[in-house]
Amino acid sequence: MIENSTLVLFGAKGNLSRVKLIPGLFHLDESGQLPEGMKILSVGRQSSTQGEWENEIKSMLDKKFKKGYCKETFKKFIARNLYHANLPDDPDAFKKFASRLKESNKFAQNLAFFLSVRPTDFALIVDQLADENLLDQSSGWKRVLIEKPFGTNLESAIQLQQSIAKHLNEDQIYRIDHYLGKSALQNILVTRFANSILEPLWNNEHIDHIQITNHEMLGVGDRTTFYDATGALRDMIQSHLLQMMALTTMEKPESFSPNHIRDEKIKLLESIRPIKDGEFSSHAFRAQYAAGEIHGEGKVNGYLSELENEDSITETYAAVKIFIDNPRWKGVPIYLRTAKRLHESGTNISVKFKNTCSLIGDSNNWFIFNIQPGESSTIVLTTKTPGLDDQELRLTKLEGSNRIDGDESIDAYEILMLDLLNGNQSRFLHIDEVKAQWSFVDPIINYWTQNKEKLHQYISGSADPESSKVIFEDPSQFWR
Ligand code: BG6
Repeated sequence: MIENSTLVLFGAKGNLSRVKLIPGLFHLDESGQLPEGMKILSVGRQSSTQGEWENEIKSMLDKKFKKGYCKETFKKFIARNLYHANLPDDPDAFKKFASRLKESNKFAQNLAFFLSVRPTDFALIVDQLADENLLDQSSGWKRVLIEKPFGTNLESAIQLQQSIAKHLNEDQIYRIDHYLGKSALQNILVTRFANSILEPLWNNEHIDHIQITNHEMLGVGDRTTFYDATGALRDMIQSHLLQMMALTTMEKPESFSPNHIRDEKIKLLESIRPIKDGEFSSHAFRAQYAAGEIHGEGKVNGYLSELENEDSITETYAAVKIFIDNPRWKGVPIYLRTAKRLHESGTNISVKFKNTCSLIGDSNNWFIFNIQPGESSTIVLTTKTPGLDDQELRLTKLEGSNRIDGDESIDAYEILMLDLLNGNQSRFLHIDEVKAQWSFVDPIINYWTQNKEKLHQYISGSADPESSKVIFEDPSQFWR
C-alpha cells in the first residue's frame, strides 16, 4: 500500500494532465489505490480559484468517462485536489508555493513531483525545488518524475542529468517512457522467459530478423512546432521503440527486481553497433506524409502544408536497421519503423524465424507480440493446403488474446503514477539507458541534418513507402 504522500503535478492545465493524469488519478481513487490522506496539488502558470479548478476537473472527467462515473468517488476525489498558481511574472512564486506545500497539517511530506512541463523547464524547476528545500528527505521521501524527452541529444541529456544530479540521487529520479507502463510490454519478459518453447529459439541460430513497428493514422495535429523540432526518430524510435527492442532482446535478468531488469536493458542498449560513416543510407530511411485520405477522416493535408513551411526536412516516417554486438544476436538485423498518417494504426514486435528446410521453398514462420490495438500473441506457421497439390502452402495463424473478459484495464500512466508513489523504478529509465539511446540516434540525426535534400513523400493513408526497403539486409525480407 502506498505511504501517505502528496502528488504535485506541474503543468496541470496541459494536455497530458487533462487527458491522462487527472482522469487516471480519478480511476485509481475509484479502485481504492490512493491513501486516504493523500492530496494532489496541481500547479499551473495561470490563476484559477479552487472552485474554477474543481469545475475544470469535472469537465476533464466528463470528457473521459462518457458513460458517467461514481458521484461518491467524485466528492472524495475533489476533496483531495487543490490548485496552486505559480505565476511566471511573480519573483516569489516558488517561495509562496513552498510555504503552502510545507503546511504539514495539510500535505503529507512524502512528496512526488510530476513534471509535465516544457523540457526546457525541467532543470529550472528542480533547481527551484532545491532552493526552497523541497527536495530534502529529512521530512519524508522526495521523488521527481520527468516527462519525455530527457534531452534532445546525448549532450543535452548529459547536461540535464548533471544539473538535476546536484540535488537528486538516481533513486529519486523517475525518467518516464510511458510505453513501459503498457501491460503488453510488461508481458514481453514473462512470455519470453516463462515459456520454454521460446527461449531455446531466441537467438541468431534460429531468428532471421526482428521488426518493431509503430504506425499511426493520426498526423501531427496541433503539435507542429514541437514535432518539427523533433521528428519521428527522436519522438518514437529514441524512446519507445528502443525500449521495446531492449525488452525483446535483453538477456534473462538475475531476478525481476528493478535493478536487475534495468542492468540487462543497459547492457543490451550499450551493445548496439554504431552505424559507420558511409552506412547511413543503407541503415536509416526517412520520409514525410503528403496529402491523401485517411479512413474515417477523409481528405487530409500533407505535413509541409500543415506546417506552412515547404522547406522542412523533418521526417514523419523513420525506419532504421540495428545490429547488436553480442553472441546471441550477432548478424541478426533488427528493423525499427514508425510513422504518422499510414493506412492503419498498430504497434507490434514481429520475430521472423529462419527457413530451415531446403525441401520447402520460402517458409514463413513468425512469433508476434501485438502491443496495440488489442494485446495478443500470434504464431504464424507455414502449412500445407489440404488437397491434391503437395506443393501448395499457406499460412496458418494461431492468435491468442492476452486479455479476457473481466481483466483489469489500467492506463500506462496510472501504473506509472502508482510506481512513482510506491518507489518502484523498474518501469522507469536509468540515465545509462537514456545515454545509450541517444548515442545510437544522434549520428543518424546529424547525418540527416547535413543532408538537406527534399524528403521522399508518401501519400497519407498509404502503406510503407517502397523505398524504405533500402534498409533490408536480404532481398527476401519484407515489411509485415
Ligand atoms: C508519444 C509521442 O510519446 O507517443 C507521440 O510523442 C505518439 O507522437 C505517442 O503519438 C504514441 O503513444 P501511444 O500510447 O498512443 O501509442
